Amino acid sequence: MTDNITKILEKKEFTRSDLVILLNENSPDGIEKIRSKAYSIMKENIGEEVFLRGLIEFSNVCHNDCYYCGIRKSNKNIKRYTLEDKEIIESALWCAEQGYGSLVLQSGERQDKAFIDLVVNLVKKIKKETRSDKLPDGLGITLCVGEQSKDIYKQFFDAGAHRYLLRIETSNPELYKNLHPDLQSFHNRVKCLDYLKEVGFQVGTGVMIGLPHQTTEDLADDILFFKNYDIDMIGMGPFIVHKDTPLNYLFDVYLKKKRYIYELSLKMIAITRIFLKDVNIASTTALQAMYPMGREAGLMFGANVIMPLLTPNKVRKEYQLYDGKPCIDEFSNDCFDCIQLRIESTGRSVAFNVYGDSKHFTHK
Ligand code: 5AD
Repeated sequence: MTDNITKILEKKEFTRSDLVILLNENSPDGIEKIRSKAYSIMKENIGEEVFLRGLIEFSNVCHNDCYYCGIRKSNKNIKRYTLEDKEIIESALWCAEQGYGSLVLQSGERQDKAFIDLVVNLVKKIKKETRSDKLPDGLGITLCVGEQSKDIYKQFFDAGAHRYLLRIETSNPELYKNLHPDLQSFHNRVKCLDYLKEVGFQVGTGVMIGLPHQTTEDLADDILFFKNYDIDMIGMGPFIVHKDTPLNYLFDVYLKKKRYIYELSLKMIAITRIFLKDVNIASTTALQAMYPMGREAGLMFGANVIMPLLTPNKVRKEYQLYDGKPCIDEFSNDCFDCIQLRIESTGRSVAFNVYGDSKHFTHK
């Protein structure tokens, strides 16, 4: 049976049905073949170093109402917060001192002027205050603050951010519709990816894996979408039920499917690596939320980016997109020691004081 897998893995280009066959492979031997191929493709194209991006979840105020997400606006069980500039800068300085090289500023989605100004000013301040001999232009900044107009994206870019993450969640418009209120359109989300590219950002997107009614054909289409949109960075992870969302009735079903979704997520990382070769792929916290060694496994399946959590301790529990988020009561220092050890435990080393840009972007 795995002879077929070997044959597909030897091909130069995969068809959609090849992708589906690989995604459906469940034998340990077959999965190991996929993993090992992904690892060698990674090694050949971008090397084995792991890039770090300190993640600051600076606000959980969100105007969206995604049916799966713990910070959706209708969830009244969390305290809404927006960190003070001072606290964010402090975390950014800490990040630069550790040699992480890059920062991700993430928040709920808002489009009001006060929010835009806050982001623009933060980016400018962080770029300026984190300059050093090692990083003459300051930390690399990735933004993850949702759908905005092209003009606003340009303001963010001109302020000094150079990478942007905006997950499409799924490339199937029907599935997207089932997971979001009518006001949130798939079409607009995709249009934002075009804007980001036009403005000059390195563009990251991604999907959730194991969504209700999602098939392996849908996941194959997600990978083809990444290719067609010439995406530079990918962040994917398992869908995890959150108790205060409309999808919470799925809890028992998901408990039974947990292992399957975890393995499917790892296969998605590996197959995306084999197919796209030189993109950056993050091993996401959601993998670790499912199984404690999930992020290390992501690295073994071809991911090359880890985003250690730098959000100040006091608000971490208010930023739970899904249940079981790890590290919600640790200090970031613990995460630092822990993250390096965890990465080294996989035989990989961390690249310090570099932006770690996507080779796919720099090769263009
Ligand atoms: N399970 C897994 N991932 C989730 N996200 C939001 N809610 C969940 C959930 N319940 C992801 C989305 C979003 C990213 C910031 O977090 O993909 O784009």
